[in-house]
Amino acid sequence: MNNTKLKLAIQKGGRLSEKSLDLLQRCGIKVSNGGKLRAEAANFPLEVLYLRDDDIPQYVAEGVADIGIAGENVVLEKGFDLPVAERLGFAKCRLSLAVKREENYTDLSWFKGKKIATSYPVVLQAFLSEKGIDAEIEQISGSVEIAPSIGLAEAVCDIVSTGSTLLANGLKEVETILRSEAVLIADPNLPEGKQALLDKLLFRMRAVENAGRNKYILLNAPNDAIGKITSILPGMKSPTVLPLATEGWSSLHSVVSEDDFWEVIDRLKSAGAEGILVCPIEKMVL
Ligand code: PRP
Ligand code: ZN
Repeated sequence: MNNTKLKLAIQKGGRLSEKSLDLLQRCGIKVSNGGKLRAEAANFPLEVLYLRDDDIPQYVAEGVADIGIAGENVVLEKGFDLPVAERLGFAKCRLSLAVKREENYTDLSWFKGKKIATSYPVVLQAFLSEKGIDAEIEQISGSVEIAPSIGLAEAVCDIVSTGSTLLANGLKEVETILRSEAVLIADPNLPEGKQALLDKLLFRMRAVENAGRNKYILLNAPNDAIGKITSILPGMKSPTVLPLATEGWSSLHSVVSEDDFWEVIDRLKSAGAEGILVCPIEKMVL
């Protein structure tokens, strides 16, 4: 009998929560999200705790949860020194300094002696110290963007994703302090059974992640162009080559990374490829 369960903390509502549940789903794990604070997965030994994102590092550090999905910015701010088991590639944002739009901003020295409102005092202080800037930090827990307009501070240090919050509040981004994305953090001392479950989960997450970064590509080519086309296709091994019913022609199948996708397509066309089809990949196990 083995009823070991992995406890995963995710954000209750906000920028990360939907994508976190979506990732679990793509890993084949079904969890209900019926507004409860905890839920059991139907087909994986996993219990999901829905928490405030800012508290997730603490819960993992204290062993209340075994693993958690949180913004890297929050993990760094809380300073629990938790290992990142996997970078998840979603909820990308930056922690930036912003000032009023009409301000005549030149460089970092502008911040000397100024008051900066933020929910990230630790990361901000480390940045200011490193740059040798002496400024005052006003720590607030939310609605940071309104601080300059109500006279609480002259600048803010906050998370920027699309930039619309800054825009709507008459602020402009002037310096980026760090770039962040969702990460999976884990208790570094998990018992063996839980570590095995985490490894299983990570295996699935990586398969999903690899799939997302790659496309399956099919094309037709005259047989005398196969050599040239094969050298362009960076696939996992050499491409699959299948004869077409039309004499002298073949169909080639391979995998192309999204990063160099368009460039590869252009080169394939000039090498004689026709009828190029590109399909999403659901899982990719390397
Ligand atoms: C951040 C930040 C802004 C918003 C910026 O909040 O405080 O409110 O996102 O996004 P935008 O550039 O797309 O407008 P976050 O999602 O971290 O929420 P929280 O502070 O409530 O955790
Ligand atoms: Zn938050």
